[in-house]
Amino acid sequence: MLATLTDVMKDTMKKPFAVPAFNVFGYEDAKAVIEAAEEVKSPVILATNKVAIAHMPIHILAKLLIGLAEDASVPVVVHLDHGKDYHTVAQALKSGYSSVMYDGSQLPFEENVRTTKEITKMAHSFGIPIEAEIGSVGYVNPELGKGMLTDPMEAKQFAVETEVDALAVAVGTVHRMESQNAKIEFDRLEEIQQLVNVPLVMHGSTGIPDEDLERLTETNIGKVNIGTAIR
Ligand code: G3H
Ligand code: ZN
Repeated sequence: MLATLTDVMKDTMKKPFAVPAFNVFGYEDAKAVIEAAEEVKSPVILATNKVAIAHMPIHILAKLLIGLAEDASVPVVVHLDHGKDYHTVAQALKSGYSSVMYDGSQLPFEENVRTTKEITKMAHSFGIPIEAEIGSVGYVNPELGKGMLTDPMEAKQFAVETEVDALAVAVGTVHRMESQNAKIEFDRLEEIQQLVNVPLVMHGSTGIPDEDLERLTETNIGKVNIGTAIR
């Protein structure tokens, strides 16, 4: 069944679990991800990133993924990953996505707040939850985006001012790692979750060692994004 981000994340702060979001690009991988989720009876998030939407128009991807979600026996979220601007997020919302991310993490703080606030209003007017990012999860190749660890006080201010439904934070991962040796700063994460009242999101989770992934289920991280591992 098609579910929203809030539907699947609402209990993740109280209970020891997190929902995986896998980057998918078409029928074959989306179907395989759903079948795996059905096998373990878990909700799952199908995330379409910049590469996916450059390859297949959002309104076509939406029809395909929403169709697969509706046929699934577990809750499936159709999510826009790293939406780069108002227009891209608007397209996803109009096409029926059940969750969107706007990523203003490369912008200065005030500008990230301002643009996230505007886009959050739009998402909420569609009745759809939104994820945004504070601090910045960088890339193995820094030309794709520079990293900056999340400042807990900034995270608090950002969450209050923007009214986002989920917040991506940078606490030690980097996108596109090919081995699981990221060093998660659990103390920083703890500080953030004391101050922020919405579920948190971990990007670049391919690089997280298995034992830390398990430990994360005990924290307020409620969504774990995995792309490189399945690619
Ligand atoms: O938004 C998607 C992810 O953060 C995936 O990161 O490819 O390093 O697993 P990854
Ligand atoms: Zn990401």
